[in-house]
Amino acid sequence: MTINEYKFAGKKAIVRVDFNVPLDENGKITDDTRIRGALPTLKKILADGGAVIIMSHMGKPKGKVNPKMSLGQIKDAVAEALGVPVAFAPDCAKAQEAAAALKMGEALLLENLRYYPEEEGKPVGIEKDDPAYEDAKKDMKKRQKEFAKTLASYADCYVMDAFGTAHRKHASTAVIADYFDADSKMLGLLMEKEVQAVDNVLKNIKRPFVAIMGGSKVSSKIGIIENLLGKVDKLVLCGGMTYTFSKAHGGKIGDSIVELDKLDVALGVEEMAKKNGVELVLGTDSVCCTGYDFGTFSVKPGAEIKVFPSNAIEDGWDGLDAGPESRKKFAAAIEGAKTILWNGPAGCFECDEFTAGSRAVGEAVAKATQEGAFSLIGGGDSVACVNKFGLADKVSYISTGGGALLEAIEGKVLPGIAAIKGE
Ligand code: 3PG
Repeated sequence: MTINEYKFAGKKAIVRVDFNVPLDENGKITDDTRIRGALPTLKKILADGGAVIIMSHMGKPKGKVNPKMSLGQIKDAVAEALGVPVAFAPDCAKAQEAAAALKMGEALLLENLRYYPEEEGKPVGIEKDDPAYEDAKKDMKKRQKEFAKTLASYADCYVMDAFGTAHRKHASTAVIADYFDADSKMLGLLMEKEVQAVDNVLKNIKRPFVAIMGGSKVSSKIGIIENLLGKVDKLVLCGGMTYTFSKAHGGKIGDSIVELDKLDVALGVEEMAKKNGVELVLGTDSVCCTGYDFGTFSVKPGAEIKVFPSNAIEDGWDGLDAGPESRKKFAAAIEGAKTILWNGPAGCFECDEFTAGSRAVGEAVAKATQEGAFSLIGGGDSVACVNKFGLADKVSYISTGGGALLEAIEGKVLPGIAAIKGE
């Protein structure tokens, strides 16, 4: 079933969205990309004469009620975005009455699903090496099914539109689908767009294909890097992982971030790139600092900033951004690309002194997009970069997924999609 075929008139739809949005200390939303992403699906159901029961997790409350992660905090923002009043069910597993009272054209938001351990389906308070763990796991799986069945009982149909959580096999993202017939469960419009965007960089590739992977750790990106090395023409590796590559070649990296146990992984990536005929583009110089506060994203008073070659950084200096030569190299690599994937910043972009690398990447991506490339930006930090630099409407698609996008690009089947398609 697809969302465009299903007749929502007179039906209640339970919609899994990913409203795990960042909040400030006053509970105010600091980035509403994910709420905006879910609007087309929710609005369509309401406009077609249906009612919506909206469910999501927020944060990681680990099976316990935690008011700091209450979805009640975003109820008004959701109502404003949706343009209809939104009722709130303060207990997602006891919302039968609220769901029954819902009239067509109305919306109900359920409290954080992860207040119940059944949502994730992992036993709590027991370690894996405990002899009773296997029984606790079986028991929790049973309880997870009951929980999913309860959620399913609120509605006539199920719509999965939480791309950001589609890599989790949870009660609301996958198990619930078992309680609906094939003709009453479907992917939402956001899921369709996200899947299309992933297909554009995995299947419908227009060449040259350039991927830019940033961030501090090569270890957290190795799965996706290996998959991309079989597909891209050029791979730009930037951000903190630069220093693991530099160190692997015996470079001096001062106090820069490094994964000393991953030097062989870095060399393996270079080897694989060579074998696959992929041009690997690494930074050659770095903007370094003698005192950066990673907690407040600021330069400590009296600290100095200077550019070093990325393999000759003096002790006491920390590489925090791509230097001018690297920025030129990155921009040149991106120029002329027809397919682009960008995940992970090129420096500590949160601090104004170290935005230049990520800005250079963002501007080159925007320029190539203007010249006809398809560009997909994913992962919280790269999305924050394009927003910060005012480039959001100059790229082709900004994904709402972090881990989910990485897993999709690694080529993994996402449980949230498999559950709908019966795979
Ligand atoms: C995310 O923010 O990536 C999604 O909401 C998934 O959250 P999780 O990593 O806590 O499952």
